[in-house]
Amino acid sequence: MNIKYTFTKGMVMKTSLQTGLTALSLLGVLTFGISASRADCPVPPSLNQCKTCHALDASKPSRATGPNLHGIPGQPALHAADFKGYSPAMKAAQAKGLTWNDDNLFKYLGDPKAFLAEVNGEPLKNAMMFQMKDETKRKAAIEGLKTMAACQ
Ligand code: HEC
Repeated sequence: MNIKYTFTKGMVMKTSLQTGLTALSLLGVLTFGISASRADCPVPPSLNQCKTCHALDASKPSRATGPNLHGIPGQPALHAADFKGYSPAMKAAQAKGLTWNDDNLFKYLGDPKAFLAEVNGEPLKNAMMFQMKDETKRKAAIEGLKTMAACQ
């Protein structure tokens, strides 16, 4: 609010009325924002790179290039039953009890191959051919996965 306009009583009232109206319209925008994202679930920008290979909407099947990731935070590995291309390393890691908590997602996205080798205790040939080295982007991508999980 612009403080310099609050020097007369009338102006004070006008200012607080404006504040009230601003708050109301802001509430409207927020409510609209929430209902809009529930309706069409836009993919958060932090997941833009993932879209190249992964479907992120609950309603879509896995693509040939990667498993559907909808709702994956907190879930065991081999999340998408319809994805046929899981690597032997991912299957082995799932058998060892790999779950996609924040820590594991963070390590996996930074270096999928090294992470699965660490989980399995042996080197591997095939893995997600994608790395996200930037830690801030990686954290944002994990939050993006949670945002998607919360809608639909
Ligand atoms: C170049 C294609 C490609 C890109 C880009 C990509 N992925 Fe993947 N992703 C894959 C493939 C293929 C697998 C399966 C890997 C395996 O079986 O070892 C996979 C697996 C995963 C898994 C494990 C899935 C499961 O069912 O257990 C997660 C989590 C994941 N990706 C997250 C991401 C995120 C988040 C991004 C973006 C920041 C991303 N991926 C970008 C191809 C990709």
